Amino acid sequence: MFKGQIPAPIGGSSLLSAPESLRIKQLEEQTSALRNSVICAFNQLLDLKDLNTGVHSTRLAEWGMRVGQELGLEEAALQNLEVAALLHDIGKVGIPDSILRKPGRLDAEEYALMKKHPEYGWAVLRMLPGFERAALDILHHHEFFDGKGYPAGLKASEIPIVSRIVSVTDAFDAMVSSRPYRKGLPYEEAIRRLSESSGTQFDPVVVKCFLSFAGDEMSTVFAAAGTSVTSAL
Ligand SMILES: [Fe+2]
Repeated sequence: MFKGQIPAPIGGSSLLSAPESLRIKQLEEQTSALRNSVICAFNQLLDLKDLNTGVHSTRLAEWGMRVGQELGLEEAALQNLEVAALLHDIGKVGIPDSILRKPGRLDAEEYALMKKHPEYGWAVLRMLPGFERAALDILHHHEFFDGKGYPAGLKASEIPIVSRIVSVTDAFDAMVSSRPYRKGLPYEEAIRRLSESSGTQFDPVVVKCFLSFAGDEMSTVFAAAGTSVTSAL
């Protein structure tokens, strides 16, 4: 599942004594366990705020990882992608429920507050050792490929690749998930909208890669998924 982040010792373990190797292995296991616990704890928090979308979230995280692998991301980036995919909206715990659950469109002031959630997520995760990079990836998950997103207005390759991948899977999840005031879109329509915004909102390479395999699997995933309720944006 989630892998530890301690790199292999320089020069290989053959230079180490057996007790030293054992100690390093124990430390790696402890770090990995701690990392997994943090991810699970934050996921519980998302559940408490009803901010997870059940099977969609899990499957989208898996699809996001497959995109990352197809695009040749290194192991460290894939680990950050896993965290960012699962916890990208953790900052929404700082958004009032009156906004998260508003049955209708947000007004300008509410929308401005909602748009703070990437910064809130970054502010929390960056304080955890080993999660600093994933925090940055979360900070930028609402940037647009054409530079019209937020919070920084980054464009194209200025946007971290992990953020560009999460942007696609997150937007797809938002489109297909039901809201208090509307039903989720059929996945065929969500695919059409993803393709339509490829090159403006989304990185076209990521969209193409995502749809190359996810499109074929959606009918089975959506047949198994019930209606879920989550907040807009
Ligand atoms: Fe978000």
